Amino acid sequence: MSRLSVSMLCFLLALLTPTNLTSATGNIGFSLPLVSSHHKLNHTTGEIGELLLPEGDVNPMNIRPRVAPAGWPMFSVVVGVGSGRGQHFYKLALDFVGNLTWIRCKPCTPEEQQEGPIFDAALSPKYALVKPTSIHCKPPFVGHGHDKCSFSGTTSLAVVQGYLASDVFTFGDTGTGHRSLGGLIFGCAHRADEFWNHGIVAGAMSLNKRSTSFKYQLAGHGFDTSKFSYCLFYHGQHTAKHGFLRFGSDVPNHDHAHSTALMYHDTTMLYFIGLEGVSLNGQRLTRINRGMFSRDQARKHGGTIIDVGTPETRMIRAAYDILEAAVVADLQHRLGVRRAGYRVPGSHLCFVVSIHGIYQKLPSITLHLAGGAQLTIKWDLLFVTKMHHGAQHACFLIFPDEKMTVLGAAQQVDTRFTIDVDHRLLYFAPENCGNDSS
Ligand SMILES: *[C@@H]1O[C@H](CO)[C@@H](O)[C@H](O)[C@H]1NC(C)=O
Ligand SMILES: *[C@@H]1O[C@H](CO)[C@@H](O)[C@H](O)[C@H]1NC(C)=O
Repeated sequence: MSRLSVSMLCFLLALLTPTNLTSATGNIGFSLPLVSSHHKLNHTTGEIGELLLPEGDVNPMNIRPRVAPAGWPMFSVVVGVGSGRGQHFYKLALDFVGNLTWIRCKPCTPEEQQEGPIFDAALSPKYALVKPTSIHCKPPFVGHGHDKCSFSGTTSLAVVQGYLASDVFTFGDTGTGHRSLGGLIFGCAHRADEFWNHGIVAGAMSLNKRSTSFKYQLAGHGFDTSKFSYCLFYHGQHTAKHGFLRFGSDVPNHDHAHSTALMYHDTTMLYFIGLEGVSLNGQRLTRINRGMFSRDQARKHGGTIIDVGTPETRMIRAAYDILEAAVVADLQHRLGVRRAGYRVPGSHLCFVVSIHGIYQKLPSITLHLAGGAQLTIKWDLLFVTKMHHGAQHACFLIFPDEKMTVLGAAQQVDTRFTIDVDHRLLYFAPENCGNDSS
């Protein structure tokens, strides 16, 4: 997967803390708030803007992290990292691909801006390096000298390098205080390249299926992370809004949602789904077949995953080329709109649009998934307006990819997704995601 820099909004996700989470019964639901970069984050207290709990929806057994915009379409959570004087609250981008939750640590190159100070391990008394002899220091992590265990990773968010460490993480809200968990393993990154953090985000929170992801580490503390759910929303002008990343019993009922199997192909621990075909405006593109989207396990190539850390959907080249030709033909024949004969920065496919009112006529796309489920992505999540050389363009938000297909964040907006890891199912249903925010 390659990386894209798109500057608009960014979302972040934080953990809300409950009052009494003493038992480790393994069935405690909780949520993390998804919040906005426009929310002013107090790095000492973890307070975000004027956060309000949704009325009538407060279960003392739940922690409910906020998900907030930080740069479009990046979605993040707010967590406290460190102990003593070293503790600060940060916005960490949500990610389903990385093997590890990581944060930029002092010293970190290149030196780039973020909200809050760079994490300084020297000021955090509970900070400890993971030793090469630790059970956690196993592939993909590698022992380094006598006392360190190194990690490196490439995701859509960044190319990072550093050492495994453990420290206190704090999931907090404005009202009821904080919930701190010690000994959580994370990556202290001393290099973070190609990290388009919008000057805000300090790292990433990984929720993939590896044992070092926070999904498993939080389960080890008695939280139910067997399933999680989120509903990304378009931030628009409502800068005070945030959503939630919900876990376990805090996940809304999904009886009426569509579902498709999560596939477990290999050691990458990603959330694979079975994409079988594509329709444009309800018409199946018959030249696109399921073989184009299947995973070659031996070569670790191809396949389709869902990820919030990938800003826009990417489609394997063979299928993308057919889709692109169909989109170009549709816009030309049905709307009389022509493809721009030049490159518009940051885009792959753009159309010159001079006529008002044409947007509502732009096509939708349906993804046909294993088991018969269909995910329809409406035109407003498929095209973005761009001015270039004084002319208005509608630019396509699906990009070709040489390695695999990724359902990215921008095309997930206004659909609730629930990843039920235990039952190996992905549920999804259209929702006005602004309703899961406050
Ligand atoms: C953060 O909150 C603390 C405690 O309420 C307050 O003393 C401090 O001034 C706040 N910091 C900022 C930057 O608002
Ligand atoms: C995660 O680890 C696996 C090896 O176990 C590796 O193939 C994969 O590239 C790693 N993922 C990232 C994002 O670095």
